[in-house]
Amino acid sequence: MELTLSVIKADIGGYVGHSDSHPDCLQTAEDSLAKAKKDGLLIDYHVTKCGDDLQLIMTHQKGKGNEEIHRLSWDTFVCCTDVAKKLGLHGAGQDLLADAFSGNVKGMGPGVAEMDIEERPSEVIIIFMADKTSSGAWNMPLYKMFADPFNTIGLVIAENMHNGFAFEVHDVKESKKIILNTPDEIYDLLVYIGASSRYPVKAVYHRESGEIAAESSTQKLALIAGRYVGKDDPVCIVRSQGKFPAVGEVLEPFAVPILVEGWMRGSHYGPLMPVSMHDSTPTRFDGPPRVVAYGFQLASGKLIGPRDMFADISFDNARQKANNLADVMRYHGPFEPHRLPLEEMEYTTMPAVEKKLTDRFKPITD
Ligand code: F6R
Ligand code: MG
Ligand code: MG
Repeated sequence: MELTLSVIKADIGGYVGHSDSHPDCLQTAEDSLAKAKKDGLLIDYHVTKCGDDLQLIMTHQKGKGNEEIHRLSWDTFVCCTDVAKKLGLHGAGQDLLADAFSGNVKGMGPGVAEMDIEERPSEVIIIFMADKTSSGAWNMPLYKMFADPFNTIGLVIAENMHNGFAFEVHDVKESKKIILNTPDEIYDLLVYIGASSRYPVKAVYHRESGEIAAESSTQKLALIAGRYVGKDDPVCIVRSQGKFPAVGEVLEPFAVPILVEGWMRGSHYGPLMPVSMHDSTPTRFDGPPRVVAYGFQLASGKLIGPRDMFADISFDNARQKANNLADVMRYHGPFEPHRLPLEEMEYTTMPAVEKKLTDRFKPITD
C-alpha cells in the first residue's frame, strides 16, 4: 500500500513559559485531526507534544507536500494558537511566522518531515521529536544508525544492509543539497555533517533499493525570520527492521547524550537527554534539550501505537549522564563552550549589542 507519513510540528504557545504544552491545545488539535479523519483526508493520526511543541503525526495517501494536508496542519495550529491566546499561554503562535497560509507550511515556521512509502507487511516506524535544540541535532544519531558499525552491527552482518545507505545533506545557508554514499564516502560526508547547524542530514536512503529510510525536518526558524524566534525543535522519522536498522540500533545513538545547540534562549550547547513524553518538560535553565522517541507499527496506514521508547530503564544512565554534563556546561555560565560561538549568536542579542557599541570601538594603534 502506497502511503505518506507526515509529521508537522509547531510551537503554538508554552505552558508554563516554554516548558510544556497545555492539554486544551492538544485537545483542540485532536478534534481538528479527528474531523479530517472522519472526512477521509487522513487515514489516521496521532497528536502529541514534546515540551512546548505540538506534534501532528498523520498518515494519508495525498503524497509529500500536499496542499490539503499542509492547510489542515496550518489551520490546526491557528485554532490551537487561539486557545493558547485565550489561556494567556506564553509565546502563543510563536512559530506561525506568516500571516496567512500559502500552499505549503515549509518556510512559514512549522517543522516538516514527510515520507512516501510502500508499506511493508511489518512497517516499523520510530518518530523522534526534540525540544530546545536545532535542526542539525539528528546528524550524529543518523550517522551512527546508518553508517557506524560500532552502533549498527547489521551493517556488518545483515546481508540486506551490507551495501550501506545514502545520505542527503542540505546546505541550509546556500539552499543546496548533495547525496553522499556510505560506507565509501564517509570521510567526505563527515566533513559536512560534522558542521551540523549548516549541513543537516535531510534524508537517508537504502542504497540497494533506493527506498527512503529516514527523513528529518531541516527548517531553520532563525533563517526564515532573520532573527531569533525560538529554536527549531526538529523531528525525524526513521524506518526500522528488515533492511533498515533494528529498533535497538535506531535507539542506541541516544544511550550516550551528545552536546547539541539550543537550551536557554537557543544560545547554548547542552546535552540531548532521551526522555519519555511525560518527562519532555525542559525546566532547568529551560532545558536541558530533550528527545522523545515514539514507536509505531503501521497497518494499512493505521498508526498502531505509540510506544514511548525512551520510557525504559535502559536509558536511565543516559539521563544521569546528561544531568552530569548539564552541571559541567552550566558551570561555564556565559562563556563558550556553553554559550554558542559568535557565528551562531548572529540571530540572538549579538547584533543589537554590536550596533550599540560600534562607535566605542577604537583602532588598536600601540
Ligand atoms: C529556547 C526557549 C527559551 C526562551 C527563553 C526566553 O528555545 O524557547 O529558552 O528563549 O525562555 O523566552 P522569551 O523571550 O519568550 O521570554
Ligand atoms: Mg516556546
Ligand atoms: Mg520548543
